Parts: sequence; C-alpha cells; structure tokens
Amino acid sequence: GGLVWRGCSAECDAEDGAAGALTDGNANPGDKLEGSDAAPDDPVHLKRRVGLFSGVALIVGTMIGSGIFVSPSGLLERTGSVGISFIIWMACGLLSLLGALAYAELGTMNTSSGAEYAYFMDAFGGPPAFLFSWVSTLVLKPSQMAIICLSFAKYAVEPFVSECEPPTSLVKLVAVISIVMILAVNCYSVNLATNVQNIFTAAKLVAIAIIVGGGAYKLILGNTRHLQEPNFASSTATLGNIATAFYTGLWAYDGWNNLNYVTEEIKNPSKNLPLSIIIGIPLVTLCYALVNVSYLAVMSVSEMADSEAVAVTFGNRLLGPLAWLMPLAVTISTFGSANGTLFVAGRLCFAASREGHLLDILSYVHVRRFTPAPGLIFHSLIAVAMVLYGTIDSLIDFFSFTAWIFYGGAMLALIVMRRTKPHAPRPYKVPIIIPYVVLLVSTYLVVAPIVDKPQWEYLYATAFIFGGLLVYVPFVKWGYSLPFMDKITVFLQMVLEVVPTSTTFE
Ligand code: ARG
Repeated sequence: GGLVWRGCSAECDAEDGAAGALTDGNANPGDKLEGSDAAPDDPVHLKRRVGLFSGVALIVGTMIGSGIFVSPSGLLERTGSVGISFIIWMACGLLSLLGALAYAELGTMNTSSGAEYAYFMDAFGGPPAFLFSWVSTLVLKPSQMAIICLSFAKYAVEPFVSECEPPTSLVKLVAVISIVMILAVNCYSVNLATNVQNIFTAAKLVAIAIIVGGGAYKLILGNTRHLQEPNFASSTATLGNIATAFYTGLWAYDGWNNLNYVTEEIKNPSKNLPLSIIIGIPLVTLCYALVNVSYLAVMSVSEMADSEAVAVTFGNRLLGPLAWLMPLAVTISTFGSANGTLFVAGRLCFAASREGHLLDILSYVHVRRFTPAPGLIFHSLIAVAMVLYGTIDSLIDFFSFTAWIFYGGAMLALIVMRRTKPHAPRPYKVPIIIPYVVLLVSTYLVVAPIVDKPQWEYLYATAFIFGGLLVYVPFVKWGYSLPFMDKITVFLQMVLEVVPTSTTFE
C-alpha cells in the first residue's frame, strides 16, 4: 500500500509502542527498548516502567544538550550585563518549571502520546492540531536538529583553529556530516540509537561536572573579580532585546515538556509526573547557574561574550594539558542530544501520519531493520537545508518564536478545557494562575521581538504556520490525494525498502 495523505490507522500502534519505550531516548541509562527488534506486527505493550528516578533522568537528559555550551555567550552579548543575564537564566528555569507543571495537568488528563497534538485536538479540534504537527515535523524538530548539530560542529572544529573564528563553511560541512552520521545510526537500528543515547548522556554530565568543579576551584582561589561587576547600568537591553535574550536562554531549557510524550509509560503518573518535574527542572536550573558562575570565574565578561565556543575557552584557561577533554565531552554530549532529537522526530511522524495528517510514506518502516527510515531521511533533509542557510543564533530565534506560540497554545488549551470539560478527571490539578502566567509570558515572548524590531522572518514563520491550512483543507478535510503521489510512494518504497507497519512479511 501506497495510499497517500491518508492515515495508516491503528496498525501503527506496534511501532508507536516500540518508539514509546524509548521516548526521547535521552536519559534512560539501562532502559531496554521493549519490542524494538520484534516484527512490527508483534503486539508491543507499553509497560509502566518510568519511575521517579527515570522520570527525572529523562527530563535532565533531554534538557541539557547544546545550549549551556553555546547560549551563555549570546545571552551576555544580547543583554550586555552579567546581572541581567543571570536573572534571565534563572527566569528561564522558572518559566520552564511553571510551563511543565501546567503540562503535567494536561498529560495526566489526556494520556495519549503526541502531547500537544492531543491537547489541541481536545481543546480546539482538528485544524489547530494539524497546524501543530505540520509545524513540528517541518520546522520545530528539524531546527532543533540543525541547532544542535551546528553546536556540535563548532566544538568539533574549534580545537583545531585555536580560538580564532573557524571558517563558516567548515563548520557547516561538519554539521552536515554529523547529521548524516546520526541519520545512519538511526536508520541502522533502534537499539544502536538507544545505546548511543545512554553512553552519550553520561558525557554531558561529565562535562558539566568538570566545568562546575573547575569553577569552584578558581573561586576558592579567590578569582571572583568578574562576578563582582553585575553591570546592570551598562545593560543594552530593550524590551525586544530581553525577549530574544530569553529565546537564547530558553533554548538551553527546551525539552522541559518531554515527559508528556511518555505519560502512558509512567508509573503512578499523577504523582510521579509532577514530582519528576519539580525535582528535574530546578536541578537543571541549578546546574546552569553553577556553570555560568564557573565560566565567569575563569574568563572575563568580554572574553565570554566573544568566545566562539565558551567551554573550549574555559578548558584552555583551566585544564592545561587536559584542555582537549572539554571539546571532546561537548561534541559527545551534543551528538547524543541530536541523536535523541532525531529519534523523537521519527516517532512524531508516526503519530501525525497515523491521524492522516502527513504523507503515509513518512510512517513506513524498513523491511528488515524496522527503523522509520523515510521519516528520518525527510527530517534530516530539512535539517541539512537549515544548517546550510542558517546560523545558530538565527535558528534559535526562529525555533523559539515558533515553539512558544505552541507552548502558549497549550496553556490556552488548559484554560479552555477547565471551562469546557469541568468534570473530566484531572488526577493532577495545577493552580490555575500558573497557566495564565505562562500564557502571558509566552505572548510577550512572541509579540515583543516583532514590535521592537520587525523582521521579515517573523512574518514568514507566521505565514508558514497558517499556510498549513492550505494543505489541511484539501488533503485532510476533503480527503483529496494527488494523482501521481501513489506512483511516487511506490517508487520510494522500492528504493528505500520500506513498508507500512501493517504488512506481514515472514
Ligand atoms: N535544551 C537542549 C539543548 O540545549 C535542546 C533540546 C531540544 N529539544 C528536544 N525536545 N529534544 O541543546
């Protein structure tokens, strides 16, 4: 079957389960993927195996990625003040915590996978839910991938150019190579992808520990001078500037909603979901605070703002002959994050095409490897284009702008459902003030940069989001399919050796 623009209905459940056992894959050391290498038509049951500890690990492992190794410089540059930067770092942590608590209510109320997609469906119906999956498959996931791989490339290249600005083309080339490598890992086997994930998660904790330990050592030696100049007065921040500084900071915290993709697998979710959030997010916030202090214990404000790869500069100042450890740990950490992000992107394709919201071919799996190769290739191609045409900073702005429209939308969904479904069971109920606050802040985050410094990019992004309706109405609502799409689907099936997950092949 190559039916086009139509869902593969319930047959995808098995695959979803296999992917579900993995989640973002980011931080579940020791967790085994259940049913991953089983034939797709084997029943795969979701087990409730995520307890409090793995819940916290999953949040921490997803959130810590590239951001803490690239954002501090950008944030300092955007605000021009150590004090304001630090406040923004902490505020980003608080905002993520509040957002995640609201998501805990949504996630325990509606436990189906697909997170935002499912909440929008419940609260607002089909079109907004479609727009979410349209934007997240075409923009959000690929741009996450592009940003992380560009950060990977920066760190992979930096040690060889000794703190000069590395040639942009080289960085982009390395970023593209890393995307291809991650694609290969994920197409090769689901198990390999999880193993990569688990090993590489440890690396980022090592990197954070080295930085925090080194910073503490320097502070004990009395190296506190750069920390004593908060420079509130010298700040260059305007209201729009502050919003984009938030974009930079919030990137480092992105992934705070990740447990919502696995609510079906959490043991006693009404207790463990909010508890993992209350432990995990402040833990990450604390790490980021300590890392920021450590950077400034070792380098000056201007050194930090100018540094191309702040953790490399840190290593060079502090670690002497072991300086190579830093870029190595960061490249491993970012590679692992990109791997987890692509993994989830593949899973997202299933969820969306199961609902008939994406081309069927994107939900097919390889006949022998059972990996969702078409979806992964599709995401990687978009990510490569983004790497070639974007920069880390522009992509982060673009990503955050778009993401916060939908995070705000989820808050609205919660508020709306309190009215429209007052009696639906809510095992965890968030104080209603919280979603209102997050909605307010997300509106500010989306509107302020446009008002402050109108840029075509914001218009393009908005047009693209609503442009999704031009696809939704004919192809999803009216059920049209393009005449030649069947042929293309069959052709791609031959080339990629992929089949719908319902196909039997013994
Ligand atoms: N916060 C991560 C970083 O700093 C990015 C996470 C991307 N988001 C995700 N859901 N995987 O690199």
